[in-house]
Amino acid sequence: MEKAVVIGASAGIGRELAKELARRGYILGLAARRIELLHELQRELPTQSYVKKIDVTRTEEARKLLEELIREMGGVDLIVISAGVIFQDPTWEQEITTINVNVLGFSAILNYAFDYFCNRGSGHIVGISSVAAIRGGHGSPVYNASKAFVSNLMHGLRIKALRMNSKIHITDIKPGHVSTSMMQGQRGAFWVIPTEKAAFQIARAIEKKRKHAYITKRWGIVAWAMKILPDRLYSKFWS
Ligand SMILES: NC(=O)c1ccc[n+]([C@@H]2O[C@H](COP(=O)([O-])OP(=O)(O)OC[C@H]3O[C@@H](n4cnc5c(N)ncnc54)[C@H](OP(=O)(O)O)[C@@H]3O)[C@@H](O)[C@H]2O)c1
Repeated sequence: MEKAVVIGASAGIGRELAKELARRGYILGLAARRIELLHELQRELPTQSYVKKIDVTRTEEARKLLEELIREMGGVDLIVISAGVIFQDPTWEQEITTINVNVLGFSAILNYAFDYFCNRGSGHIVGISSVAAIRGGHGSPVYNASKAFVSNLMHGLRIKALRMNSKIHITDIKPGHVSTSMMQGQRGAFWVIPTEKAAFQIARAIEKKRKHAYITKRWGIVAWAMKILPDRLYSKFWS
């Protein structure tokens, strides 16, 4: 039976993906800060699961707790990093939180996962980035930049794995709009899909060991348009 850890499993995409992976037979490690929500999810899952309270911004502690969780599970094959935050028209304090969670926290976990799978000889890492990674945005500029960092970092480690001839797979997931608490209050959101649909498509990308996946596919066209639109036009359509 395959085993997976999902960081950011208490809500939204991570929570639904944990359910989808359990349906596909995975034993799960569930991590986030809101431990009561993780226990609630644990009771819903059809397979065995383990719970750990992890705050990714407390990087050293988070890496130790992840190591502990993986040891309790007897090793894992897949680590998913879904933890992330966004703020609309953020204050500087909120921008700092975005950097701490999406950049610092993400890097701490991704680097731990990479080293873990290097030592193990194989494994699969999945990071939830965003279509926002493609280009800067005026609504939450640091969020877009943080997701560009996330995608770029995963790319770098994928190349590193290739050069090492290792059997480590890294999947960069770029959702468009998914109906989670993160989407509440987002202006002008379109093509919003339910978490179940996103989780199903992410699980399929995991199964196929895809390098990249837009969720849903048509966001790939939006990404292409985002790359080529001149600033004046782009600024009208994208926040
Ligand atoms: N929803 C969308 O439309 C959309 C689009 C593109 C990309 N994404 C990305 O998808 C990922 C999941 O977002 P979502 O929409 O599912 O949001 P969500 O419903 O708000 O869930 C966010 C998850 O991140 C966890 N988290 C936040 N801060 C954390 C911290 N310091 N340490 C550990 N876990 C933390 C939360 O758990 P706790 O609060 O319990 O710690 C929660 O489980 C994010 O990376 C987001 O950027 C979402």
